[in-house]
Order: sequence, then C-alpha cells, then structure tokens
Amino acid sequence: MSDKAILEYQGKKYEFPVTEGTEGELGINIKTLRSEAGMITLDRGYKNTGSCESAITFLNGEEGILRYRGYAIEDLAEKADFLEVAYLLIFGELPNKQQLDKFYGDIKEESEVDEEMKKILDGFPKAAHPMGVLASLTSALTAFNPGSVDVESEEDMYKAIVKILGKFPVLVAWTQRKKNSLPLNYGDDSLGYVENLHKMMFEKPGKKYNVDKSVIEALDKLLILHADHEQNCSASTVRMVGSSHAGLFASISAGISALWGPLHGGANQAVIEMLEGIKADGGDTHKFMQKAKDKEDPFRLMGFGHRVYKNFDPRAKIIKKSADEVLEGLGVEDPVLDIAKGLEKEALEDDYFVKRKLYPNVDFYSGIIYRALGIPVEMFTVMFALGRLPGWIAQWREMRLKKEPIGRPRQIYVGANLREFKEVSER
Ligand code: SDX
Repeated sequence: MSDKAILEYQGKKYEFPVTEGTEGELGINIKTLRSEAGMITLDRGYKNTGSCESAITFLNGEEGILRYRGYAIEDLAEKADFLEVAYLLIFGELPNKQQLDKFYGDIKEESEVDEEMKKILDGFPKAAHPMGVLASLTSALTAFNPGSVDVESEEDMYKAIVKILGKFPVLVAWTQRKKNSLPLNYGDDSLGYVENLHKMMFEKPGKKYNVDKSVIEALDKLLILHADHEQNCSASTVRMVGSSHAGLFASISAGISALWGPLHGGANQAVIEMLEGIKADGGDTHKFMQKAKDKEDPFRLMGFGHRVYKNFDPRAKIIKKSADEVLEGLGVEDPVLDIAKGLEKEALEDDYFVKRKLYPNVDFYSGIIYRALGIPVEMFTVMFALGRLPGWIAQWREMRLKKEPIGRPRQIYVGANLREFKEVSER
C-alpha cells in the first residue's frame, strides 16, 4: 500500500503522507495542504477528521470494539476497579499494588475542598441543574489552586491530577446534597474511592450509613464503562481548551459543559425522561418509533445512534446485562426497563434504524441502573462526568506532554464581500 495520498485539482497533483495507526487506521496528513495547494478541507462535525494521534483509547465502530490502552472494555469492566482504570488511562499501564496505593494515597491527601467553595455553591438556586453547578465549581478550583494552572513539568501535572481526582467526588456529593438540603460533608477515606463517593452522596445526618456491596460494584462498573471514549465531543473540548494552556481545571470544566448536552452525556437523563413519557402516554412504543422516524417531528429516540458505533455499543451490551442483575439483586421492579427492551427490539427490526445502523448506545440503559441505585435523574449526567474524569485527564495530559499546538480550525467564509460604510442617515 502506498504511504502517500495524491490530490489532483485543476491539473495539478499534490502528494500527502499517509499515517497508519497500530490498528491499521489510515490518516492523510494534510499539514502542507494550504501552503502547497492554497486549499483547506471542510468536514461538518469532524466526521472524517482526526485531531490527533492518541495512544489512550481504541474503538472500532463497525465491529463494536472498545479498548483502554489495549485492554478490552469487557475485561476491565469485569476484573478491574475504577481507580485502577483511572491509573491505566492516565499513565498507560495497569498499576501494581505499590503504585495503586501511592496513587490513592496522593489523591486522599488532596481530597479537601476549600471551605470558601461552599459560598459559591450557596449562591446557586436549588433548582439549578447539577451539571451547571459542577462545571462552575470545577472552574472555581483554579481560584483556590493557582499553582495548578500553567503547569509545564510532569510533576506539576501530576499534582494537578491528584488534586482534581481528590476534590471532584466531594464536589459531586456536595452538588447532590445541596439539592436535597443536606449538610455538606466529607467522606471516610478508609473506604475505597467509589464507596467513599457513595457515602458522601447518600449518608444522612444522625443515621448509620450502610450500603449493599452490589451497589458499589455496579457503580464502579458504570464508572469504568464511561471512563474514556477517544475524541468524543467533551474530550475534544478538554483538549481544545487545554491547548491554550488554560490549565487542567478550566479544561475539565469546559468538558463538563460539553457533556451536559442531550446529544452527548445528557442523553442518559433524556432517555429516562423519554421512557417515563412513553409510560405516561400508555406505553405505546410503536407510536414513539414512528415519531422518531418522522423528519417533521423533533422527537429522537434518545440513547440510540452513535457517531462512531455502527454496530452495538459494547458498553450498552454490558450495561443491559448489568441492569437485569442489579434490579434483580436489589429486588427492584422498574417498568421502564420493559419499555426500553420493547423499544430496542422494535428498533433492531425496523428498516429506518437498521439502514442507518442506529443501535442502543451507552446512555440507553445506564439511567435504569442509576435509578435503581437511588441516584436522582438530574445527577445521571454528573455520574457520567465522574466516570469520564480520568479519560479527560488522560487526553489533557497526552496533549500537554506531546506539546500539541493550540487548536485553531480554519473556515470557508461565505458572508458579504467588501462593502462601503454608510452613515445611519443613508441606510
Ligand atoms: C454519547 O462520541 C462519543 O463517543 C459519545 C459517547 C461517549 O462515550 O463520549 O459515546 C457518549 O454521547 C452517546 C450518544 C448519546 N446521544 C444520544 O443518545 C442522542 C440521540 N442520538 C442522536 O442524536 C445521534 O445519533 C448522535 C448525536 C448520537 C449521533 O449523531 P450523528 O453521528 O451526527 O448522526 P446524524 O445525526 O447525522 O444521524 C444520521 C441519521 C439521520 O437521519 P437522515 O438525515 O440520514 O435521514 O440517523 C438519524 C438522523 O436523523 N438518527 C436518528 C437518531 N440518531 C440518528 N433518528 C432517530 N433517533 C435517533 N436517536
């Protein structure tokens, strides 16, 4: 196979080197396109455009493959825990016991949040969406940790990384507790990372806290499944903001805002609201399938379709299996699970969905488990953000260590040509 691509335009030929990735993906390197041919490429939504070379996550949308640093998501979800996977994504290798203990020890050292932050949280109305609160609090971490902003050395990057891994679970818990008018608390760092998060989120004043081990296991698995997904909208946002050297906390805050959208991480909340709507409307899934296919109708089947997966999202398969196990284990009957399965069955047999290769994605079943775990629907996307935090960190760190240039796409201008200014009396 030639390692060059040739573009021919108006009788002239231009050659560009072709990069081949370790899984055989091919990319045309067009860094000389504008200087040689005076042209740029145009690609709405970057559907065919690679922004970087990355060694973090590999996914194959046609075959439904997802691997973090070469490890299959199925293995990691089954055999690893979330903190191990966070270490793997960020530093590239599964940690041995000493490395994992040191990592968690350094995180625990940084798990306090400045008391002044509570005043920022107090300023929000109770009705504020937790994603907006969390994005603001995460950005505010910069104000209280100015030394974590323009970090150049790997050591300073590590310090910023353990800071946000230590403080983010507290911000997540406080965001939920504020909505429930519960006192803002700290957990118990003799517990594991995910159990401590759960305790901070759910312990009640004066009440003994206890939790079914299966709940922590299910939550840990969900966080692993959300941990990274290569150059998705929010990870690309983190890279873009980070490329200006705005600092890790500001970059993560921007990623949270991008994830909030219902076309991205906000879909897990939108799925449950959709399923509840179908249930309230009498449970006629066929009626809603028709709405999803009607171009005149803005209704979309939330939790279905994916920019990259044109086969089953491997995470959706694992979560669907886990949903049955968790609900059975907790003795929870959730009628929307049956509606979800009915929708999935119908969609997988419907020509519109089959032709467009629209399958359930990670968000289709996750909300059903979060709900069974007692997590409020408005906090579903916050749980996605917590899961994605190590991935965002890994993407930011890789971009900074490789000294990638500031992101600055081009455009094709289609506005007015030069015009003469007219005084207001002449307009
Ligand atoms: C996540 O990128 C990632 O990796 C994201 C993520 C991650 O881990 O970071 O995997 C997490 O964001 C998962 C996706 C969650 N979003 C939703 O579930 C929202 C519903 N899905 C759609 O909005 C849509 O499928 C997207 C946004 C996910 C993907 O959109 P694309 O790739 O831009 O595809 P498209 O909108 O061009 O759709 C192609 C066709 C269109 O029809 P035609 O114009 O060809 O006739 O499929 C149709 C769309 O109308 N279509 C849908 C549909 N999704 C696509 N029709 C009905 N219901 C849907 N859900």
